Amino acid sequence: RPHRIAVIPGDGIGKEVMPEALRALDAVQRKFGVPLELVPIDWASCDHYAKTGEMMPPDWKNQLSGMDAILFGAVGWPATVPDHVSLWGSLLKFRREFDQYINLRPVRLFDGVPCPLAGRKPGDIDFLVVRENTEGEYTNLGGVMYAGTEREIVLQETVMSRHGTDRVLKFAFEQAAARPRQKLDVATKSNGIAISMPWWDGRADAMHANYPQIAVEKHHIDILCARFVLQPQRFDVVVASNLFGDILSDLGPACTGTIGLAPSANLNPERAFPSLFEPVHGSAPDIYGQGIANPVAMVWSAALMLQFLGEQAAHDAMLAAIEQVLAQGPRTRDLGGQASTAEMGAAIAERI
Ligand code: NAI
Ligand code: MG
Repeated sequence: RPHRIAVIPGDGIGKEVMPEALRALDAVQRKFGVPLELVPIDWASCDHYAKTGEMMPPDWKNQLSGMDAILFGAVGWPATVPDHVSLWGSLLKFRREFDQYINLRPVRLFDGVPCPLAGRKPGDIDFLVVRENTEGEYTNLGGVMYAGTEREIVLQETVMSRHGTDRVLKFAFEQAAARPRQKLDVATKSNGIAISMPWWDGRADAMHANYPQIAVEKHHIDILCARFVLQPQRFDVVVASNLFGDILSDLGPACTGTIGLAPSANLNPERAFPSLFEPVHGSAPDIYGQGIANPVAMVWSAALMLQFLGEQAAHDAMLAAIEQVLAQGPRTRDLGGQASTAEMGAAIAERI
């Protein structure tokens, strides 16, 4: 049977870049015969919120549970819906309810893309950030006591389970083991965060025992950020808790030119639930409506989706097409070009 894909453009430039991903998917469908059933969905958007007062219908989980994957644009329209409402009402529900415990973000410097780091060339930067995606520092546990008084106290807990930590470490070791360099870098802060982070390091050591061939290096998050900028060629696979991974996976793409290139996969590797594929960027209200958003992050996210669904040849063709268009143009403005979203998207589909 075909892969069933829920297609959710969401808000802002999500609605502009999604058609370019669909154009690329149409091209691989025709070239490789990849069987796809695309199911368009207009909720999980601030437009839906404006109509109903909710980001999603009550039976959203039922509607999506039978899907093999979710292709997602971006959510957020802060002029009408506060960001914590739109995010917690959609994307964070998907991540948590569908147990998408891996957030995988490739970071790569392409030929033809000006690198903000001096002296870097394509090949110097090519790594994966593996972020824990369901627990850690991002919780709703805590509160404010004595609010509004001199005694005001705020407390917010971090939750790290052995199950949740081991499974993200295992995934990262597996990724490292499948790549030529056989290297894993682990983000920590065990000098300052003196309970959870030494524990996290201990779980990393325990998992390392199963992968003795992998070289492991631990870095405190502060120096790790510096090394992303100063020595990006050091990295191959980097694993981090939810907060540290969030920071690293914005910093990484920033080192490779523009956020308009960066894709991400929110994975439930066991496939008990659909996984979700989306650009790292948001809805970009500042450029929405002009047709100038870079479609590459969205197209690359769709390629990651096909890879996860076992369609490696289709993934490779999409990535090769992206490489060629970045090297030769047409390019959107964030890449120093003049092309529209549709012109760049059409060029990618053409190459496929
Ligand atoms: P953003 O990623 O939407 O935009 C940041 C900057 O990057 C803007 O100047 C924008 O024009 C530029 N940019 C982003 N994507 C681009 C692309 N494809 N091509 C060219 N330029 C691009 O982040 P911001 O402004 O912090 O948030 C805007 C809205 O998006 C908020 O409502 C926020 O909550 C939401 N958001 C949603 C995310 C998601 O759906 N996963 C992730 C990040 C933000
Ligand atoms: Mg982020």
